[in-house]
Amino acid sequence: MIKKILVTGGAGYIGAHTVVELVSAGYEPVIIDNLSASDLTLVRGIEKITGRPVAFYQGDCRNRAFLEEVFSKEKFPAVMHFAALKSVGESVQKPLEYYDNNIGSLVALLDMMGKYRVTDFIFSSSCTVYGQPDAIPVTEETPFKKAESPYGATKQMCERILEDVSKNGLRVLSLRYFNPIGAHPSAQIGELPIGTPNNLVPFVTQTAAGVRPELVVFGNDYNTPDGSCIRDFIHVVDVARAHVDALQYLQQKKENRIYEVFNLGVGKGMSVLEIVNLFQQVTGVQLRYRIGNRRPGDVEKIYADPSRIMKELGWKPVYTIEQALLHAWQWQKKLSGLS
Ligand code: UD1
Repeated sequence: MIKKILVTGGAGYIGAHTVVELVSAGYEPVIIDNLSASDLTLVRGIEKITGRPVAFYQGDCRNRAFLEEVFSKEKFPAVMHFAALKSVGESVQKPLEYYDNNIGSLVALLDMMGKYRVTDFIFSSSCTVYGQPDAIPVTEETPFKKAESPYGATKQMCERILEDVSKNGLRVLSLRYFNPIGAHPSAQIGELPIGTPNNLVPFVTQTAAGVRPELVVFGNDYNTPDGSCIRDFIHVVDVARAHVDALQYLQQKKENRIYEVFNLGVGKGMSVLEIVNLFQQVTGVQLRYRIGNRRPGDVEKIYADPSRIMKELGWKPVYTIEQALLHAWQWQKKLSGLS
C-alpha cells in the first residue's frame, strides 16, 4: 500500500503535530506549505522527534503549477488539508484575503486531485461553522447559524464545496475542531504565532514568560458561571491522533462517494478564567491578568458532543487539559530560553 500522504500546511501548528503522528503510524507524509504563517522551525522539530527527514515543498496551494509539480512527482492516495488563514479578527479586516486563500486553495487542490485521481480528503473544519448555537453541546446535526466572521464563512463554504464535490466521487471527512491547545510532550514542536497571539493559550504562555506584560480576559459579564466565555479545549496531539484515525477509517471504506463530518472536541466546557487558574496551578507561575472588554465576534459558550467520532473512529482523548497547559508552558520555556 502507498504510505505517502499529502499534508498541506504541515509546517503549521496542527499540521506539524499530525505529521508526527502519521510517521509513528507508519505513513510517509509529504508536506506542502507556503510558510506565510510559519517558518521551518516546526519541520525541524518534526525531524528531531521522528529521527528522520520529512519531504517538504514550499509553495502555495492556489498555485496550480506548483501543485502539478508535487502531484506529478509524488504518488499519494490521500490529502490532509490544513493550509488556511485562521485569525477571526484579521478576517474581518481582510475578508478578500480569507476568501481568496481559504476557498482558492481548496478549489485548486480538488481540481488537481481530480486530475491525478486522488480520492481521499481530510479537511480541517472548525466549530466556528455553528456560530452561536441555541443549545449546547453541539452535535454534527446542530444547524449552522450565520457565520460570525469571514473566517467562519470560509469554513462553512468549504464544507459545502466538499459536500457537493463528493457526489462526483470524492471521499471526504471534515473534522470540526474545537479549541486545540498545548504542544508536543517533547517540547520540539508547538504553537508559533507571528507577532501578538490572537488565541488564548499562546497569549497566556507568553505573558507567563514575560514576553507580554499582561493577559486581558475578554469579558466577565457573559451568561456563564464565572462570566467568562466557555470553550472545549483539546490537546493538539489528540487532535493530531484523530487525523490518523480518520485516515484509517476512510481507507478501509469501500464506497466511492463519502461526505462525513465529525466534531473534534473532548465534550467538556471550560471557561477562560478556569484556564487561567489551572495554568497557574499546574505551572506554579503567577499570571498577570485583568478583565477587559468583550472581544467582538466572540461566541459566549460552545462545546462538543463528541460521541460520533468516539463511536465511528474509536477515537478518544488521552491527554488532560492540565497536561495540555503544562506542555504549552514547556514549549514556551524552550522558545524563551527559560528551560
Ligand atoms: C476561534 C474559533 C475557532 C477557530 C479559532 C481560530 C469559535 C467558537 N472558535 O476560536 O473555531 O478555529 O478561532 O483562531 O468561533 N481570550 C481572552 N484573551 C485573549 C485571547 C482570547 O480572553 O488574549 C478568550 C476569547 O475571548 C475566547 C477564548 O479566550 O473566549 C478563546 O479564544 P481563542 O483562543 O482566540 O479561540 P476562539 O476564538 O474560541
